Amino acid sequence: IPVDAFDLVIFGGTGDLARRKILPSLFRRMRAGQMPATARVIACARGKMTRKAFQQMIREALLEFIPRPEDRPDDLLAQFLEVLDFVALDATGEAGWAELGEKLRPDTVRAFYLSVGPALFGPIAHRLHETGLATADSRIVVEKPLGHDLPSARELNRQLSESFSEHQIYRIDHYLGKETVQNLMALRFANALFEPLWNAQHIDHVQITVSEKIGVEGRGGYYDKSGAMRDMVQNHIMQLLCLTAMEPPARFEPDAVRDEKLKVIRALDPVPIGDTVRGQYRANGTTGSYLDHVENPDSRTESYVALKVQISNWRWAGTPFYLRTGKKLRARLSEIAVMFKEVPHSIFPEVSQRRGNALIIRLQPDEGITLRMTIKDPGPGGMRLREVPLDMTFADALGDMAEEVPDAYERLVMDVIRGNQTLFMRGDEVEAAWAWTDAIIASWEDDRARPEPYDTGGSGPEEALALMHRDGRRWREIE
Ligand code: BG6
Repeated sequence: IPVDAFDLVIFGGTGDLARRKILPSLFRRMRAGQMPATARVIACARGKMTRKAFQQMIREALLEFIPRPEDRPDDLLAQFLEVLDFVALDATGEAGWAELGEKLRPDTVRAFYLSVGPALFGPIAHRLHETGLATADSRIVVEKPLGHDLPSARELNRQLSESFSEHQIYRIDHYLGKETVQNLMALRFANALFEPLWNAQHIDHVQITVSEKIGVEGRGGYYDKSGAMRDMVQNHIMQLLCLTAMEPPARFEPDAVRDEKLKVIRALDPVPIGDTVRGQYRANGTTGSYLDHVENPDSRTESYVALKVQISNWRWAGTPFYLRTGKKLRARLSEIAVMFKEVPHSIFPEVSQRRGNALIIRLQPDEGITLRMTIKDPGPGGMRLREVPLDMTFADALGDMAEEVPDAYERLVMDVIRGNQTLFMRGDEVEAAWAWTDAIIASWEDDRARPEPYDTGGSGPEEALALMHRDGRRWREIE
């Protein structure tokens, strides 16, 4: 469904995110017929640049990030570049604001995407309000880092709320834009099969894994101040946890969904330090260690985290959620594994290993769902059992349509234009997540221990295995 004409202003419009993600995503939406040629995208950045030079820059970005020529036909490329404009603007000074104002059209949806560092969120929001460029219906889009801890997140929310009301603020967590993450909600709330079993009575535990092959090369400056806890757990993993654990919202509407997510965060128990594992990758052969990629040779920042988390409510009490994420691991793999309890009484001989059913939701790569079942081993050898996967890969199930799986930003930017906040974080949600992660980080700081070293290309520190073993459980393989 095409959206109405809009004016999208991107502050930091010549930056990495704009070139890599935002503009290629908009291009794909135009190709899909959703973004009208009457839309306008105005990039703002400090340096002087002509509109022509900016169009050329984005042309090159599209050639790079949409590599197959058949995906970017020349006529469409030309049409897309026509939509683009550029204003040299000083976010904290005077230059450019009047020119930007002249370019914006009345009675057109207006969105301001702040693809800049968080220190500029407040000042830009303020200027937009003060100059009257932001109308009561305008949207403002911001993205992580949304603070560094609870006080800074509160301050950021305060600054934004001085100039925009909550229904105008779109806080992106790009995980919520991923097709498979939205599918988690469809799986849970559009199928009658799972919901009756979705609780501590039937589920033994849940494992959430976001494993990455890449390290922190090139991003050491930012990453060393954050670590895996702030970079991944406070936001992306928290969102996966919420969507897995939340109560069914009454409606698929922004506040109904976000209220339920917030309740989950508020029900999280504080995590004792003994239920946390921090790791840092060490050198392996020719690949450097974490410490080779950051400035501080003595850094104690974690590039891996594993946690055992308890949710204190009726649905989940007694069913732990094990979370882990790390860089420089064996494979790129994100999944949610819901591990069901074993049958209460087995009538079969103890000749084969038995485990409970498992529902694996693979977020990336090979997006899909697998249900682990137990069946009889074929053949006359008696009643031996074996485990088999009931496998559904979205690419196969959806055939040609699977090629259309949009990038997270395509969905999210269009939702901004449509004015739908369901897949965006509310301010109180972000603050609650910080309150919980801050306590864990503080316990590490008091402890002053070094993160556990782990091998590049492996599956994380030994201590993370022990976190599960002592409960008689084990992590799924990262492969
Ligand atoms: C970003 C983190 O938010 O998410 C990165 O800052 C991480 O460190 C990335 O690599 C992971 O995103 P994706 O979509 O590749 O799983």
